[in-house]
Amino acid sequence: MIFDTHAHYDDTAFDQDRETLLFSMKENGVGYIVNACASIEDMEKTIALMEKYPFIYGAVGVHPDDADKMTQETLEKIRDLSMHKKTVAIGEIGLDYYWHKEKEEHCIQKEMFCAQMDIARERKLPFMIHSRDAAEDTLSIVREYVKAGMYGGIIHCFSYGKEMAKEYLDMGLFLGIGGVVTFKNARKLKEVVAYAPLDQLVLETDCPYMSPEPYRGKRNASHNLVYVAQAIADLKGISVDEVIAVTEENGKKLLHI
Ligand code: NI
Repeated sequence: MIFDTHAHYDDTAFDQDRETLLFSMKENGVGYIVNACASIEDMEKTIALMEKYPFIYGAVGVHPDDADKMTQETLEKIRDLSMHKKTVAIGEIGLDYYWHKEKEEHCIQKEMFCAQMDIARERKLPFMIHSRDAAEDTLSIVREYVKAGMYGGIIHCFSYGKEMAKEYLDMGLFLGIGGVVTFKNARKLKEVVAYAPLDQLVLETDCPYMSPEPYRGKRNASHNLVYVAQAIADLKGISVDEVIAVTEENGKKLLHI
């Protein structure tokens, strides 16, 4: 069964047909979904999805876009929600210098990233990282934490090159691979996927965003991961069934499902 390790089904893009869509997942070969929190206000929506659907689990945390709105209270709330029995990770957390260019913002992002990594450690949960245009700072923070002892993690929507991939793979972390790998111009990511061992890859949609070919630009959903699995299979010269089976095992092992 397909394991979507990173989705946003609380997004308003699913308001019209969320229930029908989610109830059709099983017949479309999707066995497990992790819904990742992004904004502060929407964390409860992930909890509601986890409670309603047996195959949905949650990652709780706040995206770097919202770092400047976080307070001690937000961190307490993340700590609280991390106690839920279906919370399997802390995420998505990290650094985004693409949308935020100011040095001051970077400082706040780093502080909140570390505070949430502390919660992951405290709760013995894996972390799920968003990192865009912030390769060096992300790597140095993750390295420090892993060196001092963490419980595994995923670099979500991995967008850096082979050298950076090697750093994370050597730490035993997983790379989250989504729709981008099906794009013709995604040379860098294709190289990473060909290079990385299959036991350290997980599938993810980041839906409603990041639809694979042939649905690029349309609303994404977990069953489209079959196209991502096919692209990985082609790059590695193995069957799509093997990619789906191994990435399912990877997800279950890392997230203790
Ligand atoms: Ni995401």
